[in-house]
Amino acid sequence: MANNIIIFDTTLRDGEQSPGASLDINEKVQIARQLALLQVNVIEAGFPVSSQGDFESVKRIAQDVRGVSVAGLARAVEKDIDSAARALEKAEKPRIHIFLATSEIHRKYKLLKAKEEIIHLAVKAVKYARKYVDDIEFSPEDASRTELDFLVQVVEAVIDAGAKTVNIPDTVGYAVPDHYASLIRGLKEHVKNIHKAIISVHCHNDLGLAVANSLAAVKAGAQQVECTINGIGERAGNAALEEIVMALKTRQDFYHCSTRIVTKELIATSKLVSTLTGLRVQRNKAIVGENAFAHQSGVHQDGVLKERTTYEIIKPEDVGHLKTRLVLGKLSGRHALKERIKELGYELSEEEFERAFKEFKHIADKKKEVFDEDIEAIIGIEKMEVPAIFQLEGLSISCGPNTVPTAGVRLKLQDGSTVDNATIGDGPIDALFKAIDLSTGIPGKLQDYNIQAVTSGKDAMGEVYVNIDVNGKSIAGRAVSTDIIEASAKAYLHAINKAAANNPKYTIHP
Ligand code: KIV
Ligand code: ZN
Repeated sequence: MANNIIIFDTTLRDGEQSPGASLDINEKVQIARQLALLQVNVIEAGFPVSSQGDFESVKRIAQDVRGVSVAGLARAVEKDIDSAARALEKAEKPRIHIFLATSEIHRKYKLLKAKEEIIHLAVKAVKYARKYVDDIEFSPEDASRTELDFLVQVVEAVIDAGAKTVNIPDTVGYAVPDHYASLIRGLKEHVKNIHKAIISVHCHNDLGLAVANSLAAVKAGAQQVECTINGIGERAGNAALEEIVMALKTRQDFYHCSTRIVTKELIATSKLVSTLTGLRVQRNKAIVGENAFAHQSGVHQDGVLKERTTYEIIKPEDVGHLKTRLVLGKLSGRHALKERIKELGYELSEEEFERAFKEFKHIADKKKEVFDEDIEAIIGIEKMEVPAIFQLEGLSISCGPNTVPTAGVRLKLQDGSTVDNATIGDGPIDALFKAIDLSTGIPGKLQDYNIQAVTSGKDAMGEVYVNIDVNGKSIAGRAVSTDIIEASAKAYLHAINKAAANNPKYTIHP
């Protein structure tokens, strides 16, 4: 179908700006590979000048990921553009994305610059970036609150300077669908050279309208949509990729547009992003939420059984929903687990598989039925590629009414020696994490702790997410176990091991 919409994914840049999200370089590369499988057109991999970590991850993604454009963000200043260009050197299709605020509020209070100066800086930056690459995108930040006549001047000037894409951000989520659509129509009508560039839209969800605004803009003629997996992003987030894509696909009759997204990869991508960022997806979230295809009322169940389309507008398989089924038990062997992992669409190295098998046996011993979700939870952990600098060897907890919560832990270090510590705390988890801190010598400040059951049933595995602050850096950890205290200890150690892996001093006995 003509009229293909370009999907620009900014999960790794705007998405990573979500409060509570933090991804290390390996995790970012893993997500980028999955985005390439999903076949997004552009991956915005980061903001290279903002930190060494961001620079390195954009560089790794640029050299490892093929078949997509890789974009790096830059302010309209030479040092940012130089840094983005260096990070993107090995990209198959590099794009430099330059932004500069244009609204009166930003000009007056943030930039302290007049309109003429803004145009001058924008044009200069685009021309400078053209030295490095052809594919330049320009974003007039806070475009939706910018005077239309001034926005027209800026957009026309940056297209003349060589911008191939002009993005119209609704930076603070202020737009409403009719207003945003008329803004896009206004630009198409008044910008003389608009036919030489792609019009892109980038919506934030402060009023819960990011997806509606993006779709209204597409109807008005926008050709690129910027979005994130699960709608994560700054404050209330960005437009959710899965919702945009499935709205365009389901309502092709209305939009007459298509994307190249492999929709069967949507659930896998959503799960990966949620697992690695620690940002849970709400149960009733459209398309990828657990309840998105669950029918509770008798009337609905009856209708769906008679004819699926009575109450379902999307086939669950089309977005990659698997029917939960009972798979394996404690008598299942390597072969059965390997086959099931393959059916679930995962690829593990031999080493990862051996670790997953060991964990599977451990769980199957405690749990009668091992479901697909349990296996996926195990795989999620194995794929995290974190060196086991500190391993949990044993733990004991004492707590209850009229008892001082006490925890004891034994950790195994890389040289095979063990370290034991016990301490008290405000509660069992507090005591446990304090005992781990004493043993590792790495004090972590707990910022977030989250626990949930992987499947239903009293013997369900508990999945624990933690977010800790180590020396001012926020690090996520995750683990699963049928024993939630053990899962808590392992999730905490998972985050600590990430911190230790980046600091050679910690690989030595504390
Ligand atoms: O929201 C915004 O304005 C942005 C720009 C950098 C495109 O994220
Ligand atoms: Zn944004």
